[in-house]
Amino acid sequence: MTTILAIESSCDDTGAAVCRDGQMLSNVIASQKIHEQYGGVVPELASRAHIQHIVPVIDVALQKANVILKDLDAIAFTQAPGLIGSLLVGAQFAKSLSLSLQKPLIAVHHMQAHVLANLIDDPKPSFPFLCLTVSGGHTQIVVCESPYSMRVIGETIDDAAGEAFDKSAKILGLPYPGGPLIDKYAKEGDAARFNFPEPNIPELNFSFSGLKTSILYFIQSEKNKNADFVQNNLNDICASIQQRIVSILLKKLQKAAKETGITNVCIAGGVSANSGLRKGLTDLGTKMKWNTFIPKFEYCTDNAAMIAITGYYKFLKNDFADLSVTPTARAEW
Ligand code: KG4
Ligand code: ZN
Repeated sequence: MTTILAIESSCDDTGAAVCRDGQMLSNVIASQKIHEQYGGVVPELASRAHIQHIVPVIDVALQKANVILKDLDAIAFTQAPGLIGSLLVGAQFAKSLSLSLQKPLIAVHHMQAHVLANLIDDPKPSFPFLCLTVSGGHTQIVVCESPYSMRVIGETIDDAAGEAFDKSAKILGLPYPGGPLIDKYAKEGDAARFNFPEPNIPELNFSFSGLKTSILYFIQSEKNKNADFVQNNLNDICASIQQRIVSILLKKLQKAAKETGITNVCIAGGVSANSGLRKGLTDLGTKMKWNTFIPKFEYCTDNAAMIAITGYYKFLKNDFADLSVTPTARAEW
């Protein structure tokens, strides 16, 4: 039996999870409300909040899993990419635990972990699979050949899909993070009401900054005519924005499936919690005869369960880090 404690602290959520032989026993997350008032994550405040949350979050994760420290076989942690101060808190804590318990340390790449979140629950995709990884900082199409072999075949050249949601929400006067709110209002809206432009970007890459600018100009011009425009049309605006972001994402995913011939198709990352994207992928998958996979909500946004499953696969390969390992804000695949 292999029992792993995983720690995730790359951005503004402090997470801890315990898994045994790849089965999740607990997955605990403490979100940081403090950033809402600033309209985005403030890195220094995030690091401080991680310091406050990390002990109680790990404590609850161990209790829920009914595991004590000496039962652990390894400590996994997010090594990169992310906010450096936030990463440092998780990395130092993981290293201290590893040293004091004399148990191996496993360094995990946050974006690879988002992809492998698809391996937490059954049914699991078989290899190779395609994964559209969409978060607040990344938008990538990844070919995953095994838990140990992944390559990025397309990515954004400017904003990430999550940023497109959050920046659009900000233009509408909604608080941060705006993605879930756009999703909520879109459910009641007419997506065909407003037509936002689709970028023409070569190959499997994405761009969202032009869309954001066109939304900004459109809203400014409508507000000049009617100050209550956003308020009176919020649901339809959100539905139209969401449907455009989703159509940009799915069009490239379809192109990737065609070019690679891969028919196992997954999504991952915070934006994969979006109900329009989840439904869009399911519908497209039925049409294209793909096998589609969507992680549970709690495994889409940042979480430690995905670090735990990635840590488990690394454990099976004895892929351990030594105590000199340091977190890095950016990381190659
Ligand atoms: O993966 P994640 O939790 O953190 C990063 O690694 O970035 O992704 C966060 C992003 C934010 O931009 C947030 O607005 C977006 O995911 N998001 C959503 C939804 N839930 C989270 N975007 C659209 N619809 C949602 N339901
Ligand atoms: Zn993430």
